[in-house]
Amino acid sequence: MVDLPVSGKVRIVEVGPRDGLQNEPSFVPTATKVELIRRLMKAGVIAIEAAAFVSPKWVPQMADGAQVLREIERREGVVLSALVPNLKGFDAALEARCDEVAVFAAASESFSQKNINCSVDESIDRFEPVVERARQEGVRVRGYVSCVLGCPFEGEIDPLQVARVTSRLYQMGCYEISLGDTIGTGTPAKTRRLIEACSKDVPLSALAGHFHDTWGMAIANVYAALQSGMASFDSSVSGIGGCPYSPGATGNVATEDVVYLCDELGLHTGIDLAALAEAGEFISTALGRVTSSRVARAMAARRARTMSNNV
Ligand code: HMG
Ligand code: MG
Repeated sequence: MVDLPVSGKVRIVEVGPRDGLQNEPSFVPTATKVELIRRLMKAGVIAIEAAAFVSPKWVPQMADGAQVLREIERREGVVLSALVPNLKGFDAALEARCDEVAVFAAASESFSQKNINCSVDESIDRFEPVVERARQEGVRVRGYVSCVLGCPFEGEIDPLQVARVTSRLYQMGCYEISLGDTIGTGTPAKTRRLIEACSKDVPLSALAGHFHDTWGMAIANVYAALQSGMASFDSSVSGIGGCPYSPGATGNVATEDVVYLCDELGLHTGIDLAALAEAGEFISTALGRVTSSRVARAMAARRARTMSNNV
């Protein structure tokens, strides 16, 4: 175990507009998605997964990806990315001027079938031409591996199985592989073992953590991963989200909680916590939800106490 990322910097990939919203039962208006992304950018978030160019029959909530990307006022230095499962998705992402795309595989055969209707090997074969085309177009490709700490259909997953898929995506040309605890059953000890297994073939600097918070362990897993030297994390403002093909899974670790942790550890994220919490309030209100971020709740309670003391 090493002592926190040596660079002193942590990269946060905000996945709220995609992972956070993809499972919402009622259609979230395009204008709300665009406004959420605008507020995230204003808070200093520079990596945002803004859309998914997947089949609208499979994930209807993401059907307006092109429009979302068209309507966002771009900011210098902000990378907007989208999920793409195949060349059709890649072409749509390119057309919508995505800065970056992400292909998504799984460490579990059953999840792969349920999520993208093919085996793990078939998915890798499908991604090859996507990565090749992206290379020609100068678009960076990120890779995801789902079910790294458990599968909703198969239960425990061997870290070596995860490491094999991770390595294949890296060898193929993905610049970073995000390890997805899709169902949020991971624990700090399992997270450390996973990172140890995956970093044998892929540099630690090319691995990211993507922790869903179903069992309340996500922030503990982020801390364990930081201690293992990982310095890139996906998170979702207000903790919104879930995966349509992972029954019962909740949202990602809340971005506010990760930023607070990093601030307190003296790790630089470049994100302004107060402005981020406002973006979280905006989307929670729009969805009619109470935020899942403990930090955002504590900040709101402190604000309310201060106001009542001043009356
Ligand atoms: P399929 O049915 O096997 O695909 O689905 P197909 O090639 O036979 O095409 C069927 C129809 O979909 C055709 O249309 C295609 O044109 C269309 P039709 O002729 O019936 O009208 N189609 C598309 N439309 C738009 N964009 C596309 C596209 N591709 C085909 N790119 C497919 C295979 C992969 C398309 C489907 O299974 C799919 O879209 N799955 C996406 C599932 C998804 O988005 N899941 C959530 C994201 S993953 C996640 O949340 C996990 C993550 O957060 C990490 C973690 O937490 O673990 C990343
Ligand atoms: Mg996810």
